[in-house]
Amino acid sequence: MNEKLTVLIDHDTVVHRIAELAKQISADYRTCCTAQNPLLVLCTLRGAVFFASDLIRQLDIPCELDFVKIHSYRGTRPAEIPVFDLGENLSVEGRHVLIVEDIVDTGHTIETMLKQFGRQQAESVRVCTLLDKPSRREAAEVIPDYVCFEIEDLFVVGWGLDYNEQYRLLPDVMVYHPEV
Ligand code: IMP
Repeated sequence: MNEKLTVLIDHDTVVHRIAELAKQISADYRTCCTAQNPLLVLCTLRGAVFFASDLIRQLDIPCELDFVKIHSYRGTRPAEIPVFDLGENLSVEGRHVLIVEDIVDTGHTIETMLKQFGRQQAESVRVCTLLDKPSRREAAEVIPDYVCFEIEDLFVVGWGLDYNEQYRLLPDVMVYHPEV
């Protein structure tokens, strides 16, 4: 047993909630996403990989999956500026984009992406996140469109979330207690 970790949201609860959200997203995009213009699901690397793969497999609308590499956290403290690399051949122009995040914290990462995709003339951009920490928000205008769970100001790991690359593979969302 690792005493630094306690369960916040167990595996089955997460699985159930993702299924609910997938239904809602499918319903919301059903009329605008077609085989010619599928929903572009942009998964932020690496934390959102597990969430995005579970979510996208339950969407029953045409969609494509791509990835954005983000660097913004070191240890339990945010780095100053989020940096992201978009695949060279990836164009969002005219596309319905759904950004899939593991957690929205200060909101700076999402704010940066929203600005860039706006400049690149995406048809629409929405944000879907496994976890949201609204009490930590600095970019006040960032409000995720789809949230699996709202949580308090806690540092969490598991379900793809890491602490310095540890604990990503844990099956539950767990609180990390660095002081123990
Ligand atoms: P933001 O730009 O502050 O919203 O940061 C978002 C990113 O910070 C997320 O994609 C995570 O990689 C990281 N992050 C924020 N809070 C946590 C946490 O509690 N555990 C692990 N990573 C976190």
